[in-house]
Amino acid sequence: MALYSEKLMDHFRHPRNVGSIENADGVGEVGNAKCGDIMKIYLKINNNVVEDAKFETFGCGSAIASSSMATELIKGKPLGEVKQLTNKAVAEALDGMPPHKMHCSVLAEEAILAALKDYSERTGNAV
Ligand code: FES
Repeated sequence: MALYSEKLMDHFRHPRNVGSIENADGVGEVGNAKCGDIMKIYLKINNNVVEDAKFETFGCGSAIASSSMATELIKGKPLGEVKQLTNKAVAEALDGMPPHKMHCSVLAEEAILAALKDYSERTGNAV
């Protein structure tokens, strides 16, 4: 059996939503001290809905695929739903990840939460 699903490979080779958002409403950056990988997520938020999401990831292929899928999953979603996105859901949407790579999907969950926290601190809106 292949180590990586076709879907994961597709998101690694053709990542969606790469880049930054100028005047983003929330930005979250997290890193994994062990591997040194870094993920940054930018959110454009309007009426409590994520209008746009982009990412910059300096990391492994699984981290890139996780950021790509996570940004796809949260676009157009209300913040209440976005907040509940788990790394497991990201990994499932990628048709699974090898166990030793699950920590890469954790970066996506954490980066999104960090971006929501930033938004909340900037605006005073509770998320
Ligand atoms: Fe560090 Fe994947 S190996 S995020």
